[in-house]
Amino acid sequence: MSNYHIKHLEEYFQVYRKSVRDPESFWEEIAEEHFVWRKKWDKVLDWDFSKPEIKWFRNAKLNITENCLDRHLHTRGDKTAILFEPNDPKEEAQHITYRQLHEKVCRMANVLQDHGIKKGDRVCIYLPMIPELAVALLACARIGAIHSVVFAGFSSQALANRINDCDCKMVIASDGSYRGNKTLELKGIVDVALKECLGVESVLVVKRTGEKVEMQDGRDQWLQPLLDAASTECKAVEVDAEDPLFILYTSGSTGKPKGMVHTTGGYMVFVAYTFKNIFQYRENDVYWCTADIGWVTGHSYIVYGPLANGATSVMFEGVPSYPDYGRFWDVVEKHKVNQFYTAPTAIRALAKESLDYVEKHDLSSLKVLGSVGEPINEEAWHWYNTNVGKNKSPIVDTWWQTETGGIMISPIPYVTPTAPTYATLPFIGIQPALMDENENELKGNQVEGRLCIKFPWPGMARTIWGNHKRYGETYFSAYKNKYFTGDGALRDAVGYYRITGRVDDVIIVSGHNLGTAPIEDAINEHPAVAESAVVGFPHDVKGNALYGFVILKEVGESRVRENLKKEINQQITELIGPIAKLDKIQFVSGLPKTRSAKIMRRILRKIAGKDTSNLGDTSTLLNPEVIQEIMDNAL
Ligand code: PRX
Repeated sequence: MSNYHIKHLEEYFQVYRKSVRDPESFWEEIAEEHFVWRKKWDKVLDWDFSKPEIKWFRNAKLNITENCLDRHLHTRGDKTAILFEPNDPKEEAQHITYRQLHEKVCRMANVLQDHGIKKGDRVCIYLPMIPELAVALLACARIGAIHSVVFAGFSSQALANRINDCDCKMVIASDGSYRGNKTLELKGIVDVALKECLGVESVLVVKRTGEKVEMQDGRDQWLQPLLDAASTECKAVEVDAEDPLFILYTSGSTGKPKGMVHTTGGYMVFVAYTFKNIFQYRENDVYWCTADIGWVTGHSYIVYGPLANGATSVMFEGVPSYPDYGRFWDVVEKHKVNQFYTAPTAIRALAKESLDYVEKHDLSSLKVLGSVGEPINEEAWHWYNTNVGKNKSPIVDTWWQTETGGIMISPIPYVTPTAPTYATLPFIGIQPALMDENENELKGNQVEGRLCIKFPWPGMARTIWGNHKRYGETYFSAYKNKYFTGDGALRDAVGYYRITGRVDDVIIVSGHNLGTAPIEDAINEHPAVAESAVVGFPHDVKGNALYGFVILKEVGESRVRENLKKEINQQITELIGPIAKLDKIQFVSGLPKTRSAKIMRRILRKIAGKDTSNLGDTSTLLNPEVIQEIMDNAL
């Protein structure tokens, strides 16, 4: 028997050692015993980080929806698969059973096929957190189409770029979305985007808010009548373990967003195995991850990981502050949630409000609390632990990335003793390494360096869509034969890892990954702007917020400058989305640059963070005189 479900620390160490000593037979056992394959692999792993090439379960055939749906029908047909909690608490929750979900997925898969979608085609999904979103992912997977979900907070320009980057043939969207007391239009955003996307042949529209929308003849159709007319049976298309399952865009420190490609077999095994252990999911538990399916957390730990384990996964449409700041706890009480997985930014926002919002709810169902997306600070950890977990539900601080597909470093609850701000130990099969500046691995404990992974794991992204060279350069060129994460980390005296944050120009704002380069490009497109630099600075709720230093072509009067600040943020909203707006904008006459004309962001970061006592070495600056001016006018 494989060790699918780890139950105590000794077992963790023993299984961990086995997974590192002989990764292939370890993952083979897990894959063999806990999943259904149409055909088994003839080799477990082929890899070469220097190329880079990674293949798990060579020549195996499967369909992931048979693992997430069909195989549960006999044993769990009437069990709730997706528990949909709407934005408005007065609207009834929907309990969608495995049987019903299977039917819905089959219907939608048939609709996709009727619209000419075939294996390997890309389908863009731009939907709010409604059940159709999960159904759309699975429907694509059912027929071997590749989904590319774009978070429904991105602007039309960002949507268009993503649609075009991977040549989507179809877009699935909704008329609008509910967020707290607001109604947002989505179809209008799609319409604007599609003016630039000539490859899109059809748009299927889910009716959610009843907004008035324009439907383009021959291209746009309401989805519901098509679903009603479709068959409830759809044969799952057989795919190769290495066929792409989805593309998901993530920001890079330079250039356009990277379409990370995840394949099917290894991803499935990895997200299912991590889910089972890191949330200690038991058969009748109700599990809730508050992320949006527009991000990788939702893909792996709302949809694929939970469903592959036959779990009940809550899908929440709303926001933590509506109708009041007790909404999360209201939902936990209402559905007797056992595992609750959220982001530090949400915890920090809720911790600012009255404790009454927490205390008036019965949270006794909770067994495990999770955190993801950014470092959790000590204060937030204690607030979460004391007030939500009542000092009895372990917090799993899970470190991972869009690129890693699933959780990489995390405690296993009730197994690994937790420690505030520590993601603790590598998960089974994960081999981290900390590197110094000279590319040497730092051995032993009490060391701090750049976090790399030395050996492949089944859930890792295999390439960047359409740009394998960039994949190699971004992740495998900094350190020979290692995957470089872009994060810094330390390993303490007992071997626990703490993630210290990004070491590149990616900034995590409210748990969202933002590259500085695209934001600077957006600012620079404003006709009044000559140049700009964006850095992060600490923010008590968002973790980091954005600070823009902007050089104007003409200085102008102060009233004009105030207006320009608004216009710059407007420009960012249009080109990227409101999540990338700047909290502070300072107009400057120059930016500190090295002799090779590189902006010295280290200095700007210190100024933005009001930490100017020691600016470090400035001797290589071309224009040291600007520093004083920038410091004098800092916001
Ligand atoms: O910097 C790390 C941070 O989020 C980055 C990955 O962002 P993304 O691809 O959007 O995926 C987020 C959800 C998995 C990482 O490089 N990060 C994520 N989780 C943690 C974290 N930083 C510290 N602690 C974490 N638990």
